[in-house]
Amino acid sequence: MLSIDPATLSERENYKFLIGSIIPRPIAFVTTISKDGVLNGAPFSYFNIVSSNPPMISLSIQRSSGKQKDTARNIMESKEFVVHIVDDHNVEKINKTAANLPPDESEIELANLTPVESAKISVPGVKEAKIRMECSMEHSIELGGSDTPGCDLIIGKVVQFHIDSDIYENGRIDPRRLGAVSRLAGNNYAKIGEIFEIERPK
Ligand SMILES: Cc1cc2nc3c(=O)[nH]c(=O)nc-3n(C[C@H](O)[C@H](O)[C@H](O)COP(=O)(O)O)c2cc1C
Repeated sequence: MLSIDPATLSERENYKFLIGSIIPRPIAFVTTISKDGVLNGAPFSYFNIVSSNPPMISLSIQRSSGKQKDTARNIMESKEFVVHIVDDHNVEKINKTAANLPPDESEIELANLTPVESAKISVPGVKEAKIRMECSMEHSIELGGSDTPGCDLIIGKVVQFHIDSDIYENGRIDPRRLGAVSRLAGNNYAKIGEIFEIERPK
């Protein structure tokens, strides 16, 4: 067993241990809108549920030398964003949106995704996802030291769900039909594999 103090490691080495250990990670494709009206899209796998009452999700958006990514800046300015679940049909297109484009260029156009109006917020989503969630920002927290924060943790409340009726049954989502894809480390991804049941103790 290796025993390692993260304080002795570089940022890159800690990153590799975290993304190799905490697997599989769900992937959110997040759309936001800039002050100039450019529709931005990018994938994030530091993504999860933080509360079901009220329904809330978290996104952690890393900074590079203290500089915020477009998604974080747009969310903090407009307080709105749309989260889409990445699946085996849209993953190739969504991967293209991770390209490092300047803020005035839209990854949505680059990846040939189709914008669709939201019901409750002014940020559009895209059609190419079986689930999308309109979110309003509840909190944004700078992490990693007040001088040069390393990341923006965003907590959003889901204000509207959009769920493809083909994957919906009796108030539940069919995991096979959703076909969510998860992120491992490097360029590796995983699909839903074997599903098994374990009864929970009373
Ligand atoms: C599958 C996948 C997952 C990613 N997850 C994250 C993440 O959780 N946090 C992050 O800061 N960047 C993540 N990235 C990188 C961002 O998507 C990338 O930096 C993107 O260009 C940011 O776009 P923006 O500047 O328009 O916000 C991920 C990239 C991919 C392909």
